[in-house]
Amino acid sequence: ALPNHFDRPVHLAVIGGTGLGKIDGYVPVAALTPTTPWGAPSSPIMILEHAGVPIAFLARHGLHHQLAPHEVPARANIAALRSIGVRTIIAFSAVGSLREEIKPMDFVIPDQIIDRTKGIRPFTFFEGGVVGHVGFADPFDASLAAVVQKCGAAMRGDGVVLHATGTVICMEGPAFSTRAESNMYRSWGGSIINMSALPEAKLAREAELAYQMICMATDYDCWHTTDDVDVAMVMKYMDANSKNAKNLVGAVLDELCKLENTDMVLAKHWEGSAQGAVKFM
Ligand code: ADE
Repeated sequence: ALPNHFDRPVHLAVIGGTGLGKIDGYVPVAALTPTTPWGAPSSPIMILEHAGVPIAFLARHGLHHQLAPHEVPARANIAALRSIGVRTIIAFSAVGSLREEIKPMDFVIPDQIIDRTKGIRPFTFFEGGVVGHVGFADPFDASLAAVVQKCGAAMRGDGVVLHATGTVICMEGPAFSTRAESNMYRSWGGSIINMSALPEAKLAREAELAYQMICMATDYDCWHTTDDVDVAMVMKYMDANSKNAKNLVGAVLDELCKLENTDMVLAKHWEGSAQGAVKFM
């Protein structure tokens, strides 16, 4: 069994699920089970070492994919990562495509979000006497996006198609959209759709962390009337492309490991962005 303690701060984290727990060259050295004032995270946090750099892995939907999107304890996840020293998060998500040119198995680095959750998920650390406000005009971290962009471009020869920007619609779920909604999101300028970008991205900002999502299209959502989305389709494309997904995330981590102690990975540019209002340890 792996130890449930690790004696150095872990600056880098990946929030993922399906197929992303084991990446070649990453050795598990600890499995942490921190508790937070917001409860326990979705799964034990695996610490993986790569080139001497520790990386935290957290399965958003739990080890057995037992948590529906609206059940993910997002505050506990972000707080738990923050409490072990995490400053930079790469988050992975399967998404539906709202654009003809974003084909299933394409990757998208979103730079914007439209919130279509229903306000029923606990969505903020700022309550119960803790008052704060954060800017969220640009919900992701541009310097991380640039690293992902570079890694994706270098993998073009392996058949990786990566779209450098995009607006992700985050809907409540767990049911998929109606056709009218899907068409409305297209008219709003949405590129892709998921159920996981929020409140995760917002909580990361409140925790003064650098956060970037990497999305992989698993379907065309239902506006595209060839084949309406269902779970089997999402899983089929996720499986078919899991090698590329692992390679892309692996390449991004390689790059970020080299930058482990730079201001970028330490997210110096986000320090103070939430007035340090929340105490995480
Ligand atoms: N995740 C994967 N495909 C999706 C879709 N079409 N809508 C919402 N979330 C998704």
